[in-house]
Amino acid sequence: MAKIIDGKAVSAAVKEQVKKETERLKSMGITPGLAVVIVGDDPASRTYVNNKKKACELVGFYSEEYALEGTTTQEELIALVKRLNRDDKINGILVQLPLPPQIDDKAVIAAIDPQKDVDAFHSENVGRIMIGEYKFLPCTPAGVMELLASENIDIEGKSCVVIGRSNIVGKPMAMLLLHKNGTVTITHSRTKNLKEVCLGADIIVAAVGIAKFLKADMVKQGAVVIDVGMDRDENGKLCGDVDFEQVEKKASYITPVPGGVGPMTIAMLMKNTLTAAKLANGIE
Ligand code: GUN
Repeated sequence: MAKIIDGKAVSAAVKEQVKKETERLKSMGITPGLAVVIVGDDPASRTYVNNKKKACELVGFYSEEYALEGTTTQEELIALVKRLNRDDKINGILVQLPLPPQIDDKAVIAAIDPQKDVDAFHSENVGRIMIGEYKFLPCTPAGVMELLASENIDIEGKSCVVIGRSNIVGKPMAMLLLHKNGTVTITHSRTKNLKEVCLGADIIVAAVGIAKFLKADMVKQGAVVIDVGMDRDENGKLCGDVDFEQVEKKASYITPVPGGVGPMTIAMLMKNTLTAAKLANGIE
């Protein structure tokens, strides 16, 4: 049976560290500030945004929330982003994705000041991740790395398989594993021999967005399995991309959904906002 990696506990420890650092900054007259922008009323996005607000309160950040109508135009949203770019109280700007169809998310991301881009979605920050000289780590992949580190799971020389190639998770995830000297394979919906590829993996990160996609017959005995999914099963119950009950019997370590990667994403967002506040004030 696998050891379950407790994302709630690891995220609480990260937030505690951020809180302590925030107290130090506050004693210097600096309060880190995060602006979160949500457009429309997608219930999942609403839940994420509420959780981000709670986390800001917990660590002692200043936060602003902008809940815009679903009919907001791209120009209006970009005007808000530009205003936040100039606002000294705001160190981090997060525009919750997905955006409604009339808005091009690439144009909005491009408008965010790279120094305030706490999602690390701006092309400048993506480029920095590619060359290993980053200020901000993308929150979900960084959270996965933190979970692996919490169990002292060694990545060097290991066969790592990432399932999914999104800009938010799959691609940056592969880069972070590569920086730790993993031998990384990115797989996706067109991969022909996915089962064989997965069977060769020491570490699997499932970020495909399909409920219970990774089955036990795709997992080598003793593999580490990290589940980035946030899906619904046939009964509407929250589940991940991994068939947890079966895979748990074969893996050495596994993350649950909920309570695995999810809480880490928010903790890493807090860490990035703290970093942004330090950068803005020339503090190490
Ligand atoms: N939507 C789903 N995940 C994320 C995330 O990490 N950042 C933003 N901005 N939107 C998201």
